[in-house]
Amino acid sequence: MEGIKFFLFGGKGGVGKTTCAAAQAIKFAQNGKKSLLFSTDPAHSLADSFGIRLSQGINSLGQIPNLFLYEIKAEDVYDIFREEYFAEIKKLLATCSYLDEEDLDDLLSLSIPGLDELMGLKTIMDFIESHEFDVYIWDTAPTGHTLRLLTLPEILDEWVIAAARMKWKYYDVIRGLLPQDSFEPGEDIFFKMKKLIKNVYSFLKNPGSSHFTLVMIPAAMAIEESKRMGKQLSSNGISVQRIIINNMNPNNVDCPFCKEKNEAQSQYLKEITDYYRGKEIIVISAQPQEVKGPGMLSCITEYF
Ligand SMILES: Nc1ncnc2c1ncn2[C@@H]1O[C@H](COP(=O)(O)OP(=O)(O)O)[C@@H](O)[C@H]1O
Ligand SMILES: [Mg+2]
Repeated sequence: MEGIKFFLFGGKGGVGKTTCAAAQAIKFAQNGKKSLLFSTDPAHSLADSFGIRLSQGINSLGQIPNLFLYEIKAEDVYDIFREEYFAEIKKLLATCSYLDEEDLDDLLSLSIPGLDELMGLKTIMDFIESHEFDVYIWDTAPTGHTLRLLTLPEILDEWVIAAARMKWKYYDVIRGLLPQDSFEPGEDIFFKMKKLIKNVYSFLKNPGSSHFTLVMIPAAMAIEESKRMGKQLSSNGISVQRIIINNMNPNNVDCPFCKEKNEAQSQYLKEITDYYRGKEIIVISAQPQEVKGPGMLSCITEYF
């Protein structure tokens, strides 16, 4: 994992993504790496996991130096998009049609699926470019959301190409209608967007810079969903490097209920290890108490 900067934790809801991402981030921080743990799950839970309150933006964590937490809110990143791109797109669309301001706002917010997540990643890419942190640990949203983001390039590409085509189609007309110099194409906004998309995805697809951990629990539904996610990721050029099987019950119990549960879990464990043969696999035991706060998270850190 030497040289890798970006660690993604993905999987079905409730399997332990946030817990594992937090434990991994603590581990890096303890090893002296300046670490940014960030989440894009709209139901943010970094604050709950650490048992603290987080303010907007990047938070430092007194008791663990080197560790910084950031819950990226969709509204904030949407503002970044508005600032950087919106005005120009709006100017373009407004000159081409009879839509009013409100219609345009609705249209733009509706027609760009996954834009909030992309802009969230853009803020992280900006940190990476300025070498702010040594490592980045991403607590992703549950499967559907994350896949939408990771399969976004094609959707966005289509949108950008269609919009760019429209711009050039109407360019002469608009220029002719407006007073001289009031329609300034400036740096092509669509070119800028395409460049951003390309940068983000080439970073995510490069196993030398990004590392994907798929988290699951030993239960049929979680395993099936993880397999589907793994396939979709790999068909988009992103490979899963590590598997975490979380919440394994201890084996040395003699109540009939636990015994039956353990037998089922052991079968699933075998199925997972066979299916993901060759990949790094970490098996984490179910803890007697809920994993919450830096103290409890440190128990999970030992697995990394
Ligand atoms: N190994 C474990 N043992 C006991 N509780 C766990 C373990 N891993 C996670 N939990 C608990 O399970 C719940 C869900 O975990 P979380 O990390 O929030 O999942 P996700 O981010 O995938 O939705 C949390 O209450 C967490 O404290
Ligand atoms: Mg979570």
